[in-house]
Amino acid sequence: MLQLPPLSLYIHLPWCVAKCPYCDFNSHALKGQLPEQAYVDALLADLELELPRVWGRTVHSVFLGGGTPSLFSGQAIDRLLAGVRARLNLAPCAEITMEANPGTVEHDRFDSYRAAGVNRISLGIQSFDDQQLERLGRIHGQAEARRAIAAVKDAGFDNFNVDLMWALPDQTLDQALDDVRQALAFGPPHLSHYQLTIEPNTVFAARPPALPEEELAWEMQEACGELLAGAGFQPYEISAWAQPGRESRHNLNYWRFGDYIGIGAGAHGKITLPAENRVIRLRRKLVPHSYLAAAADSSFIAEQHPVPAEDLVFEYFLNRLRLAEPIAFDEFEALTGLDRKQLQKPLTEATRLGLLTDNNYQLHRTEKGHQYLNDLQALFLPTQSTRR
Ligand SMILES: C[S@@+](CC[C@H](N)C(=O)[O-])C[C@H]1O[C@@H](n2cnc3c(N)ncnc32)[C@H](O)[C@@H]1O
Ligand code: SF4
Repeated sequence: MLQLPPLSLYIHLPWCVAKCPYCDFNSHALKGQLPEQAYVDALLADLELELPRVWGRTVHSVFLGGGTPSLFSGQAIDRLLAGVRARLNLAPCAEITMEANPGTVEHDRFDSYRAAGVNRISLGIQSFDDQQLERLGRIHGQAEARRAIAAVKDAGFDNFNVDLMWALPDQTLDQALDDVRQALAFGPPHLSHYQLTIEPNTVFAARPPALPEEELAWEMQEACGELLAGAGFQPYEISAWAQPGRESRHNLNYWRFGDYIGIGAGAHGKITLPAENRVIRLRRKLVPHSYLAAAADSSFIAEQHPVPAEDLVFEYFLNRLRLAEPIAFDEFEALTGLDRKQLQKPLTEATRLGLLTDNNYQLHRTEKGHQYLNDLQALFLPTQSTRR
């Protein structure tokens, strides 16, 4: 029997000063003036339409992601969050995160975001090496990156995240370690450590830079991991490290297969409807100007469909296996409405390969399962024969 998981809210703010050559997010270089007022109006109208699907439910976290949300003024963020509170039942201690790019924030901005109710900042630092930052097409150098972290702390945010990327073009092991050391010097409660990946349809895909060989990349992951673990961080997800109790509640909800409303250009949502015994997925119109234009007739949603049972299995494990914590069968049944018997084939194979252990109550990802995560996740793919 399907049960309601916790609910969160994602708000997409799609503009950036410039498009980074590695980035395949739905982000667009801003041409002309930021349509702040119109976009906040559209977001609130979009949210309003979503309300009947989540009636009476409490929202436990909000994430303002992008793009570069810190292009928006404190005033606009204040109006947006006040509008969210007026429409949704936001938990009193809800985590409210905002992504910020160090090249877009002067000191006072963080004060105004905090006054608006933001209580967690996620900073896109990427590296502390000026040469790397330039190759990554970043609009800031290491000095601005440092100033931004200091400004976040000065504004009184005790909860913040630093994004770093590793396996950067021509990066050495020492350089990768140095980036982590420099980030640790600021005492962040959370650090996201992403291996640079070359995504299709990016500038880097068209003109690939020279990336470290696989063996060196593996050494970087191991050595940076040791450094982080030595500083008290726990790897609770593939790329996410946190001090105990400082995990991102919003991201944990995705990986635990929770529900989320997604508003804004291209935002994805997942909502469980127990009365109809189904889980639905929704996506908003992708291109910012089409999304803005949709405000005229409230046609924000581009796609909406129930998730078929076999896709539910895959989506559940795709997300859930990213986390280090064990997976209880009861939890699988509650969040998918499916019987654990459906898992027999992939579980037999995963345990045979030593990627998972199964004690009839919980599944544990092994060290090998962590190392070969993609292969493990692929075992849960719907097979041709079961696909509708
Ligand atoms: C939406 S962006 C964060 C905020 C802001 N836009 C910025 O870049 O400063 C989320 C993060 O994803 C990571 N990221 C983006 N593209 C990536 C790629 N191709 N490989 C690895 N990490 C990537 C970066 O660390 C980036 O900070
Ligand atoms: S600033 Fe962030 S979202 Fe924008 S293009 Fe760069 S990585 Fe992507």
